[in-house]
Amino acid sequence: MSKFKAFIFDLDGVITDTAEFHYLAWKQLTEEEGMSFNREVNEDLKGVSRIESLKRILQHNERSVSDEKLHSWAERKNNYYVDFIKKITPEYMLPKMLSILKNLKGNGFKTALGSASKNARAVLNGLKITDYFDIIGDGNSVKNSKPAPDLFLFCAEQLNVTPAECLVVEDAEAGIEAAKSAAMTAVGIGDANKLNEADYVFASTSDINLSLIIG
Ligand code: BG6
Ligand code: MG
Repeated sequence: MSKFKAFIFDLDGVITDTAEFHYLAWKQLTEEEGMSFNREVNEDLKGVSRIESLKRILQHNERSVSDEKLHSWAERKNNYYVDFIKKITPEYMLPKMLSILKNLKGNGFKTALGSASKNARAVLNGLKITDYFDIIGDGNSVKNSKPAPDLFLFCAEQLNVTPAECLVVEDAEAGIEAAKSAAMTAVGIGDANKLNEADYVFASTSDINLSLIIG
């Protein structure tokens, strides 16, 4: 018997690669507003909420704007992003993820989505995988977003399992930090040096070996 009962998956960068769409949408906004933005800054926005992402971009540009502008810019970026994600189809799943979800459901594990995105449901619909999740935790579920543990604790509570019974799969440093603050086991996808707080790290989703962890 595995000590894990539930799997909580991040969306962007774990199930599908939407980072490029976030990048393109921020690029459009920053170009229009005469701000500098590049892929390195974009890296720093992974797993981070929309408003916090914009605050980081402004900080990078040593700019500050009124609250009203902050929210209207964030909304504009979101409109661009929403347009991009309309093209998402099941082919946009990252390697191995569909078989992992099928396998977990087939073996009686509980599953949750734990994404900071307010667009998570639209992305899941595009990928046609909504039904693989017992619970969907997204950017609307809790007030404090990652790296706070709140979203993952919300998922555990909804699934009726303890944090120790949860395994979180995440690609962002903010997400690994959130999982560890929630006292859950964290599986990182990406660079082991960056995700050094994770309990296990796989370079990409193709390398995931869950049986190694589940036992
Ligand atoms: C996370 C992404 O999943 O969602 C972040 O990694 C993004 O880059 C955040 O900022 C919020 O997304 P949204 O769709 O609510 O703007
Ligand atoms: Mg992510």
